[in-house]
Amino acid sequence: MTSLETPVPLLHAAGTYDHGVPYEYYRWLRDNDPVACLDHPSYPGEKLWVVTRHADVQRVSRDAASFRNAPDPFLDDGVMMNDGSAGTSELMISLDAPDHMKLRKIINKGFTPRRVADLSERLRERTDAIIDGLADRNSCDLVHDLALWLPLHVIADMVGVPEEDRAQVFEWTEKTFGFDASVTPEERSTATMEMFMYADAMCVEREKNPSNDLMSVLLHAEVDGEQLTRFQIEVFFMLLQNAGSETTRNLITTGTLALLEHPDQKQLLENDFDLLPTAIEELLRFTTPVIHFTRTASVDVEIGGKTIKAGERVLMVYAAANRDERAFANPDSLDVRRDPNEHVAFGAGGPHFCLGANLARLEGRIMFEQILSRFEGLRVDGDPADFPRVYSNLIDGFAELPITWDRIAPAK
Ligand code: HEM
Repeated sequence: MTSLETPVPLLHAAGTYDHGVPYEYYRWLRDNDPVACLDHPSYPGEKLWVVTRHADVQRVSRDAASFRNAPDPFLDDGVMMNDGSAGTSELMISLDAPDHMKLRKIINKGFTPRRVADLSERLRERTDAIIDGLADRNSCDLVHDLALWLPLHVIADMVGVPEEDRAQVFEWTEKTFGFDASVTPEERSTATMEMFMYADAMCVEREKNPSNDLMSVLLHAEVDGEQLTRFQIEVFFMLLQNAGSETTRNLITTGTLALLEHPDQKQLLENDFDLLPTAIEELLRFTTPVIHFTRTASVDVEIGGKTIKAGERVLMVYAAANRDERAFANPDSLDVRRDPNEHVAFGAGGPHFCLGANLARLEGRIMFEQILSRFEGLRVDGDPADFPRVYSNLIDGFAELPITWDRIAPAK
């Protein structure tokens, strides 16, 4: 797009992402208005600053003194106002130093590289079981039959949700965070409340009978003589269900599609699974499951000759930064051997960098290896453009994507 198309996509409206993120508009912004001031119905002066270049996204993300996460980093969609009633301001991702630092130090104890590596064997078994469950079929929905199960089980394994409760917890998770337009606001708030009460009961139980799970670690961990309150742990439980499941599911779905649409890259990977680590980084860059987050300026700041005033919101568009030709050669090409690859799919650095990045990478490696090595003749059943995407201004991915195949090879 050399000139600006009209109508201009509204970056806050969920409907804008019905057919995927507006990459052409992002390119136009990067080239012509890299620190753009756009209209927004809910922010001060009805304005929203938007940064789309890789360097500017990094700059905002890393300057936590000037750009704060409070009151929350979510882009108001202009329909459900961010007035705090949804409890988003309590989430870890909405806190700033020093509270955020204290909380993160404690929570880090539950996310050590050792704890993540320990999950590896169980992840492999889960992945095998999910694919084995499809072995006598020739088609399924990639989202609901394949991609969503591993991330849901991984969080449940980490937190310590017993097998017999999982169907219920997964149903609450889908209703609360599933971006499913058919779920009514009442159903959503009932599911949220029930999940919160479930987390509370789990806390009570783990206080009495501690085990090795994350819930127990968080209940008993101490930093500088301080412990988390039960309420903080319950709020974290909710954030984890959301942050850990929606995101990784979309990496699996849109990542699989990206490989099917780039058979040469798929072939490279199938020939050499040692490429998986660079391939996962590239799939993260190319698909960018979390489109963007906002920050709120705490002081007047100048970026690119524009002055962002204290109190104004800035949108860091990760999906635009990940296609910035100033940071990546041939950014619209998928290159599973791309290295270095300083993508910003897990955030662009700074104190809120994705806590689950290593876990998501591990899930991606195991899932893509199994999908590529076990499904023979895998293909999309139709034109991907015809299938609904997630109804959200935050997460990019498919709501459903039918796939078909010739045969599933047994697990090795
Ligand atoms: C492909 C998968 C994932 C993507 C693309 C992703 C992306 C992100 C992004 C962009 C942020 C914000 C970073 C910032 O503001 O600087 C974030 C934060 C976070 N993510 Fe992830 N994430 C993924 C998977 C996970 C998983 C598996 C977990 C947990 C098990 C997780 C837990 C979190 C948490 C707790 C935060 C908030 C950290 C804080 O505020 O300090 N994420 N993630």
